[in-house]
Amino acid sequence: MTSFAAWAKSAQERTEAALARYLPATGIAPERLHEAMRYVSLGGGKRIRPMLAFAAGEAVGADIERTEPAACAVELIHVYSLTHDDLPCMDDDALRRGKPTCHVHYDQAIALLVGDALQSLAFEVLAAPGSHTDPAARVEMLHLLAHAAGSRGMCGGQAVDLASTGKQLELAELEFMHIHKTGALIRAAVLLGALSAGRLDAGARAKLERYSKCIGLAFQVMDDVLDAEASTATLGKTAGTDAAQGKATYLTLMPAKDARAYAQELVDDALAAAGHFGARGARLADIARFIVERSY
Ligand code: IPE
Ligand code: IPE
Ligand code: MG
Ligand code: MG
Ligand code: MG
Repeated sequence: MTSFAAWAKSAQERTEAALARYLPATGIAPERLHEAMRYVSLGGGKRIRPMLAFAAGEAVGADIERTEPAACAVELIHVYSLTHDDLPCMDDDALRRGKPTCHVHYDQAIALLVGDALQSLAFEVLAAPGSHTDPAARVEMLHLLAHAAGSRGMCGGQAVDLASTGKQLELAELEFMHIHKTGALIRAAVLLGALSAGRLDAGARAKLERYSKCIGLAFQVMDDVLDAEASTATLGKTAGTDAAQGKATYLTLMPAKDARAYAQELVDDALAAAGHFGARGARLADIARFIVERSY
C-alpha cells in the first residue's frame, strides 16, 4: 500500500485538476468574477474534505473517479464559507491559504459574489449525472449537501460563532457551534463520498456517522489550538486572531494541552469506527490521525 503522504498528494492533485475543470475559465465573461473564483479555489488548502470523500468512497468500494463530483462539491461549499468567513463583517481576515483574502485582493462585493457563485457551482456539479447514475440517489445527495450547508448546518454554526464573540460559552454550547460550523461539511464529505459508490447499508452508515461526528469536532478543536499555537507562516492565515477578537473557542474553556487530549480521544473513537471497514478503511484512519497530528 502507498504511504498516506503519497495517497494524500494524489488526492490533492486529483481535486485541483477536477476543480480547474469545473470552474469557468478566466476568459469567460464576467472575467473578474471567474478569475476571483479560481483565485480562492485553486492552488491551496489541505483538501481535507475531498480526501475524506475519496477515503469514504474507498471504504465502501467506490471507484475514485465516481467520487470526484461529490468531493469537489463539498470543497466548493467549503471555499465559499472561507471567503465569506474572512469578510470584514465576519472575522475580518486579510490572509487565507498564504494569499491575501478575496475581499483584500479584489473587493467585498466580488468576495460576496464569489461565495454565492461557488455555492451554486457546488450544487450544479452534484446535480449533474456524473455524481451518480441513479437520479433518486442524486436527489438524496443534493438534499444532504443542502442541509449541511444551511442554517441547520454550516451557516447555523457561523451564526452562533458570531453571536458568541466576546461571550463565555459552556462546553455543550461550544460543541453545538463546532459540530455545525465545521462538523456538518465534514460529515457531508464522508457520507457523499460513500453514497457516490451506490447505496449505503445501515451498518456502514452508522459507522461513518460516528467517524465523521468525532473527526468533525476534533478538526475544529485543533483549528482552535493551532490558531493559538502555530505561526502565521505555517498556517497560511493570520494566527492568534481568535483570542484577539474574543472568539469562543476550546481554549477559552481549557488549557491547550487538555484540548489536544480531547481531540485525541475523539480521534481514537473515530479510529474504532473506521476499523469496521477493515483494510478498506485505512485512509479514513490515516486522515483521522492527521487531524490531531497536523501542524497547519
Ligand atoms: C479552515 O478549514 C476552516 C475551518 C472549518 C476550521 P481548513 O483548515 O480545512 O482550511 P483549508 O481548506 O486547508 O484552507
Ligand atoms: C470557520 O471557522 C468555519 C467556516 C468557515 C465555516 P474559523 O473562523 O475558525 O476558520 P478559520 O480559522 O478562519 O480558518
Ligand atoms: Mg470564523
Ligand atoms: Mg475565521
Ligand atoms: Mg479558526
